[in-house]
Amino acid sequence: MNTNEELSAILQSVMRNSAKAIKDKYYPHWHLAPVTGLLNDPNGFCFDGEYYHLFYQWNPLSCEHKHKCWGHWRSKDLITWQHQPIALLPDEIYDKDGCYSGSAVIHQGQLTLCYTGNVKFEDGSRTAWQCLAVENQQGGFDKLGPVLGLPDGYSGHVRDPKVWQYNDIWYMVLGAQNLDKQGKVLLYRASHLYQWQLVGELAGSYVGGLKDAGYMWECPDLFELNGHFILLTCPQGIKREQHRFLNSHPSAYLIGSFDYSTLQFQHGELIELDAGFEFYAPQTTLANGRRLLFGWMGVPDGEEMYQPTIANGWIHQMTCPRELHIKENKLYQQPVKELQQLRQNPAYWQGIADDAPDINGFLFELEVALFGSLTIHFSDTLALIIENNQAVLKRRSVKNGEWQSRFWSGDIKHLQILCDNSSVEIFFNGGAGVMSSRFFPSEEQTICFLGKDTINLTTWQLKNA
Ligand code: FRU
Repeated sequence: MNTNEELSAILQSVMRNSAKAIKDKYYPHWHLAPVTGLLNDPNGFCFDGEYYHLFYQWNPLSCEHKHKCWGHWRSKDLITWQHQPIALLPDEIYDKDGCYSGSAVIHQGQLTLCYTGNVKFEDGSRTAWQCLAVENQQGGFDKLGPVLGLPDGYSGHVRDPKVWQYNDIWYMVLGAQNLDKQGKVLLYRASHLYQWQLVGELAGSYVGGLKDAGYMWECPDLFELNGHFILLTCPQGIKREQHRFLNSHPSAYLIGSFDYSTLQFQHGELIELDAGFEFYAPQTTLANGRRLLFGWMGVPDGEEMYQPTIANGWIHQMTCPRELHIKENKLYQQPVKELQQLRQNPAYWQGIADDAPDINGFLFELEVALFGSLTIHFSDTLALIIENNQAVLKRRSVKNGEWQSRFWSGDIKHLQILCDNSSVEIFFNGGAGVMSSRFFPSEEQTICFLGKDTINLTTWQLKNA
C-alpha cells in the first residue's frame, strides 16, 4: 500500500468499526483505548509546557500485532484527551514492518519523535533503524529518516529509543539482544540528535552483577528520582518464580546510582514493577517536577488473543496515569491526583467486611483501611484475597476458564482500587505494590466484600472522561 491507500484503509476502518468498539460493554469510560484495532505500548509521552502528549503503538486495521502506526492523543489535564492526526505510518523502506516504540523530546521548540523503524526480510531475519520525525504545521509529523543502524555484535532486535537531555548532551537507551541471545540495554550519547555514539551496555544479562536475565530487554527508560536512578525494562525470558514474574513477559526495574561522568550504572536485583496480569512497556516523562508513567494494560504472547473485545474489533487499553516516588529505596506508584476530579457521590462505611454493602457496576474507585484479612469478589471472574501478609489476585483464564493467580507480599493496611468496566488497578499501601488487570465478567456486575475483620471503606462513583 502507498501512503494514500494506507490512510484511506485506516479511515475506513475507523469509520466502520469505532461505534461498535465504543458501545462494547467492556470499553473503558475513562482509560485510553483504541477506537478500533490493537493498542500496545505508550510512546512519546511528554509535556510541552501546555499539553501532555501520549502516542501509542496502534494497528488500526485489525486486532493483530501487525502494521504498527503511532496514534496520538493530547491533554491539558491528564483526564480528557483529544485525538490528534495519526503521527507515523509504516510507509518507508526503513520502517515498512512497523513504526515501533520510542519517545519524544522538544528539540529547538519542535516536538520530535525518536522511534524504531522495523524491517523484516523473507528469510525471517530483521533489522532495525532508529529514526526521527518532527511535528509540522498541520499537527502531523514529517519523517527525517534513520539516524542509527544496528551496532556490531547485536541481532536485529535493537529498538525502543528513550531519549533525554542532560547538561546540553543527548542520551538514549535502547533495548537490545546480542548475538549470544542475551538481553541488554545500550547507552548512547550525542551532541545533536543526528549523530549517536555508543557508550556501551548499561545493564542486562551478565552486566552489573546480574546473571542470565533473559534473551531480550525491551522498552528501557532511565531516570533520576529523589536522588536515585531507576531503569525500567521489560526483560523477556527471565525465569518464572513461584510468586513473581508469572506473566508471559514481565515489566521490571533496577534501582541504583548513575554517574554522568563515568556513565556507569550500579544497581541491585530486578524488581517486578506491577504484579498484575496485564502490565507491560511502561514509559515515563518529567512534567513540572513530577515523574509520570503510563503503562500498557496488556502483555504480548500470553492469552491476549482470547480477549472477548476482539469480537467488537478492538483490544487493550492504557493504565491510568501514575506518579512515581521513592520511599525507603523502593519505587511507589500512585494514580495522579488529577484523577480525583472523576470522583462523585462519596460514601463511607465501617464495620465487619461480611456486612459491607455490595457495589453495583464497574465504574468506581475505593479506598479501604484494613485491620486483618479481606476478600473482594469482582463478579464471578476476579477475586482479591488478602491474608497472612500476602495479596492473591485470582482470575478466570479468558482461554479456558481456569483460575490463575498473581501475588504481592507485604503487610497490607491500605488499598486503593480503580475500576473501569473491564480493568482494575489495585494499589497496596500507598503504591508500594500495584496489580493491574483486565477482567471480563458476565452480566452480573457486583463487587462484594467478605471477611470477619473490620474495614473502613470509602467509595466513589467515577465520571466518564
Ligand atoms: C513491546 C514491543 C516493543 C516494540 C513494540 C512493537 O510491547 O514489542 O519492543 O517496539 O512492542 O509494537
